[in-house]
Amino acid sequence: MLDHLKKTDPETYAFLQQELERQKNTLNLIASENYASLAVLEALGSVATNKYAEGYPSRRYYAGNTYIDGIEALAISRAKSLFNAEHANVQPLSGAPANLAVYTALLKPGDTILSLDLNYGGHLTHGSPVTAVSHFYRFVHYKADKKTGKIDFVEVEALAKKEKPKLILAGYSSYSKEIDYKEFKRIADLVGAYTMADISHIAGLIVAGEMQNPTLLFDVVTTTTHKTLRGPRGGLILCKEKIAFLIDKAVFPGLQGGPHPHSLAAKAVCFQEALQPAFRQYAKQIKKNAAALCKALLKRNFTIVFGNTENHLLLIDLTNKNISGKQAQDSLEKVGLIVNKNVIPEDTRKPLDPSGIRIGTPAVTTRGLKEEHMEMIAQWIDEVIQNSNDDAKLTQIHRQVQKLAQQFPIYKELNY
Ligand SMILES: Cc1ncc(COP(=O)(O)O)c(C=O)c1O
Repeated sequence: MLDHLKKTDPETYAFLQQELERQKNTLNLIASENYASLAVLEALGSVATNKYAEGYPSRRYYAGNTYIDGIEALAISRAKSLFNAEHANVQPLSGAPANLAVYTALLKPGDTILSLDLNYGGHLTHGSPVTAVSHFYRFVHYKADKKTGKIDFVEVEALAKKEKPKLILAGYSSYSKEIDYKEFKRIADLVGAYTMADISHIAGLIVAGEMQNPTLLFDVVTTTTHKTLRGPRGGLILCKEKIAFLIDKAVFPGLQGGPHPHSLAAKAVCFQEALQPAFRQYAKQIKKNAAALCKALLKRNFTIVFGNTENHLLLIDLTNKNISGKQAQDSLEKVGLIVNKNVIPEDTRKPLDPSGIRIGTPAVTTRGLKEEHMEMIAQWIDEVIQNSNDDAKLTQIHRQVQKLAQQFPIYKELNY
């Protein structure tokens, strides 16, 4: 495999080969990552990448799109049935472009968006001052309770009445609780705002019925396709028919040129996989694993932000462990446990070396790990945090992690 690449470009080949080995030999606990299926990888590496397909099915600007039309129509109809949506646009290149497309479709520059503060679990594209969108729109942020994660809807309502947002945004990045979409909708209706949910992290849990689906209630829903949904890197917008024209126009020609047909094909495959009964089992297990990991960490005196988890991720506040998020991330990587450092609510440290780490169970669940393995992972995390300067100890844990990774192989059939 990759024989042509090996001959043509040995340098790129070597990196890909090492990346495959890294993925095989480590346990991926990054909440936003996963292992896409071989079918998804095949679609991504297909000849569809050669085609320009500006426009939408049967309304293209270039000839030769009969089969790309078929692929995109398949992806659209599968996305609609998966999420129970009136309309789907499968062209956004990723999550950030999908969110920008919604803002562009529904708002005028300077309009106000009400969204969750980044430090409480929101995403950069929900108005962080370091993003370009924060210069185009006026973002006002609500917060979640630091201890319980509960969103105070009395505060959200008061903010909405005062700030008069045109759009209210729910759906987050580092947030471990269920979301009360009905309350957001009630408040949005009071002030005449659009409702938008960004379900990038939890889309796979939603389609499996493991979390609430905002699609019927909200005007528009965005998601990435590569997190719990386990597809190719990409974006997806679902919306009510009444705003479908605005959304489509904002994606193309508003913001993008030609879609990426290889990615459309891989999205179609991903949606087909997510429609299967086995996907429901996988999503159920993701939540069970996250709950088991949370319990095992609490037992070891770790501080879990918001107290516990109701989805696929948990955020750990490391303040009581006398180690920073970056030090913890680096030490865990040494033993083959891959996590990301993360800011916590009211963090006093900087984003590049914050006080927390975020841990997710989607990828290890794809690999086949169950609750008993979460106990082992919690034990290793604890030992690494307590012995982060003891290289001999880290080497010993590394061997155990590798052993578990090899017991639950990923991409067995792939050998670059
Ligand atoms: C909630 C949320 N929205 C949007 C994005 C952006 O997605 P992408 O990195 O594909 O642009 C992310 C990515 O982490 C996310 O968590």
